[in-house]
Amino acid sequence: MGFVHTSVMPAEVLAYQNLKPGDVCVDCTLGGAGHAESSIKAILPGGTLIGIDQDHEAIANAKTVLHRFARNIILVHDNFSRLPKILDQHNISGVNSIVLDLGFSLNQITQARRGFSFNLNEPLDMRMDIRNDLTAENIVNSFGEKELADLFFRFGEEKFSRRIARAIVRGRQIHPIATTQDLTRIICDTVPKGRAAAQKIHPATRVFQALRIAVNQELENLAIFMQQVPDLLVTGGRICVICFHSLEDRIVKQHLKSFEALCTCPKDLPQCVCNAKPTMKSIFKKPLIPSPGEMAANPMARSAKLRVAERI
Ligand SMILES: C[S@@+](CC[C@H](N)C(=O)[O-])C[C@H]1O[C@@H](n2cnc3c(N)ncnc32)[C@H](O)[C@@H]1O
Repeated sequence: MGFVHTSVMPAEVLAYQNLKPGDVCVDCTLGGAGHAESSIKAILPGGTLIGIDQDHEAIANAKTVLHRFARNIILVHDNFSRLPKILDQHNISGVNSIVLDLGFSLNQITQARRGFSFNLNEPLDMRMDIRNDLTAENIVNSFGEKELADLFFRFGEEKFSRRIARAIVRGRQIHPIATTQDLTRIICDTVPKGRAAAQKIHPATRVFQALRIAVNQELENLAIFMQQVPDLLVTGGRICVICFHSLEDRIVKQHLKSFEALCTCPKDLPQCVCNAKPTMKSIFKKPLIPSPGEMAANPMARSAKLRVAERI
């Protein structure tokens, strides 16, 4: 199977990007380049798309699938937390649209052989950017029991975090945990069978999510990125962010709220003294979710939430 794109909410994202020919837009999470392909078509003639991914395979794929637009595309193998530097390097002072479609791509989970899936037997790696040092194998074999339990609870909201951490520490004394199946077996033997079935998800789902978030420092990078958003967009420029779990959605929501800088003065003051100056406005208060048809066709879309905000 080749590299396939899995754009979530493609029509909604394209509509809310509000693109026109000549615009400059950034796809921070190229993946299979589905959103990127819709964007580039909407900004031609004359526009520029900067496509970023920290996974070298996504960049290689984009070079092929977006080949016919090559003159209007800049592909960058980097972390989106460094977007200001990337734009500087290309002498771009402001952009009309930024898209983030967070999480992992279908290629990463099914093809990359980097240990993202508990359904496959692969080395326990989980790095999206293989130039980084930390892997999931390092974490499960070297973190202390409490550190592991905290990580599973914080990033996976895993109820059995302590029990699983204890079983991992016991298991790795017999032999190192090197593959996805080494880890999955320990989790499945630890989580009570009835409780796992009641949760309607595979017992390893939350631990795998937690490890992926930790290995790729997903929340830190998202927070660094979000802080810089108002400085990167031109007036009227928009950011569209698709999140797949509450930890990342909370970061996006809190930053967008802070940019709206609603006046915090007591209501009885005759005039504003807090000098709150909004830099962004959210296009809708509650996040959009995919249509029932999209959720039925693409199970990966089920937990997606789209937030859109505009630079003012
Ligand atoms: C859900 S996929 C994107 C799918 C894509 N929108 C499409 O149409 O196929 C997420 C992609 O974002 C990349 N990614 C995640 N976090 C990143 C970060 N901090 N910097 C750069 N790329 C990142 C992943 O490597 C992955 O390829």
